[in-house]
Amino acid sequence: MKKLLLSVASIVAVLAFSGVWSASAQNKKGDAPSQREVRLTLHNQSSEKQVIPKEIYGQFAEHLGRCIYGGIWVGENSPIPNQKGYRVDVLEALKALKVPVLRWPGGCFADEYHWMDGIGPYEKRPKMVNTNWGGTVEDNSFGTHEFLNFCELLGCEPYVNGNVGSGSVEEMAKWVEYMTSDADSPMANLRRENGRNKPWKVKYFGVGNENWGCGGNMRPEYYSDVYRRYATFCKNYSGNQLYKIACGASDYDYKWTDVLMSQVGRQMHGLSLHYYSVMNWDRKGSATQFNPNDWYAVIGKCAEIDSVIKRHCDIMDEYDPRRQIDMILDEWGTWWDEEPGTVRGHLYQQNTLRDAMVAAVSLNIFHKYTYRLKMANIAQMINVLQSMILTRDDEMILTPTYHLFKMYVPHQDATFVPMYYESESIRDVNRREVELFSATASRKDGVVTLSLVNVDLEKECKVVVALDDETKYEVSGEILGAKEMNAHNTFEQPENVKIQKFDAFKSSKGQIEVVLPAKSVVTLTLK
Ligand code: AHR
Repeated sequence: MKKLLLSVASIVAVLAFSGVWSASAQNKKGDAPSQREVRLTLHNQSSEKQVIPKEIYGQFAEHLGRCIYGGIWVGENSPIPNQKGYRVDVLEALKALKVPVLRWPGGCFADEYHWMDGIGPYEKRPKMVNTNWGGTVEDNSFGTHEFLNFCELLGCEPYVNGNVGSGSVEEMAKWVEYMTSDADSPMANLRRENGRNKPWKVKYFGVGNENWGCGGNMRPEYYSDVYRRYATFCKNYSGNQLYKIACGASDYDYKWTDVLMSQVGRQMHGLSLHYYSVMNWDRKGSATQFNPNDWYAVIGKCAEIDSVIKRHCDIMDEYDPRRQIDMILDEWGTWWDEEPGTVRGHLYQQNTLRDAMVAAVSLNIFHKYTYRLKMANIAQMINVLQSMILTRDDEMILTPTYHLFKMYVPHQDATFVPMYYESESIRDVNRREVELFSATASRKDGVVTLSLVNVDLEKECKVVVALDDETKYEVSGEILGAKEMNAHNTFEQPENVKIQKFDAFKSSKGQIEVVLPAKSVVTLTLK
């Protein structure tokens, strides 16, 4: 079924003399049609059973900048409207996304976090310096109780990431006991003393983060042994079943995956992977000030995750042909320069239509690999990197990425519907082939959701969808798009980019014709 989704570069790159593709130059000549056409066959009647787990829509909240403090948590005494310390506006906005799982407390922060500093009376909690993220003083007012209670309010699974880099086996083992044991045991009793009688359910537990880097600069062989040791003492208490996630590779580090699969194998339930759509770690570029070349370059980089996931999956298949170990992409998204005037190290960036495009193209790819890829956590939820929400004091805005995630909610836990299409491509400035069209579809309770992405900055895209049945579906549509490629929401103009109703389609028996405006994402619902 995955093989049906072919990508064919049918148009050779249009390169200007500098080797740089220029959409506007092509248009000025007036010799290119302003609309391209894609023929897409939707195999709705296929017996495909692959489900897109809702966890593909997971989030990540680290103690970094204003993600937790000011983003999620303001404390009960704050003048900002809050429910037991959690911002009410943020909580309500997140509920609409049906967040399935939330990873915490890091990130790099996880490997210097000592959980016992974040329990008990606030005034007694010690402070620490967040060495990874700007040297900010962390007062530990948001700790285990605050996180797990937040997950309960949000209705999502917690994904707790333990400290391997600078923590001990004992510390990690006790944390699991503290959170999940209902016994008359030291840690369970300490939790009771701190006001929580019954244990929480904690399914996902990460044994370290980026242990090849900020989590200890380990070699994969060494980390494999360390993982085995730490994971041994993460026990299942009182009916809680831990799903243990080993630190996985960064991007193209296939050796890491190979070693972990051979040395750790079934002692882990999931193996993570991190992949950021970053152009250059030294010069990341502005989130809002960019040209068409930059637009295509980041789409090219984000779409490259297709081959990266495939290669990691292929390695996992060699060791685990029955696919019992999952791939967990627990950090992904765009990474731009921090906004001018903000604190260095806090990774606060704006979020434009381009970020929403990256999210759409990425999610369309993730859906294909859900035979192995069982979770993805975008980095990060609020005020950090490719966030859903930006806050300023008591104000809040929703980013284009938030709106994209909202449009894609129907894909959560839906059955993947195979499709076939051929997309035209161009070459970006880095010589990557960039497909100008991307799509995905799923079915739940008899309703088909079809998401179509026109990456092209200039041309409309007519999509002729051939259905494999004679039903005349009742179709409705939504669109996320804008006139300017760098359109974004600000505190002054919070609704520049938002979901709108869309009806530029014709539906007949067995066929739908739809015209996607340039740089837009459309979702059609077929009932
Ligand atoms: O998401 C920001 C950082 O990126 C995380 O802390 C780390 O794991 C990764 O390098």
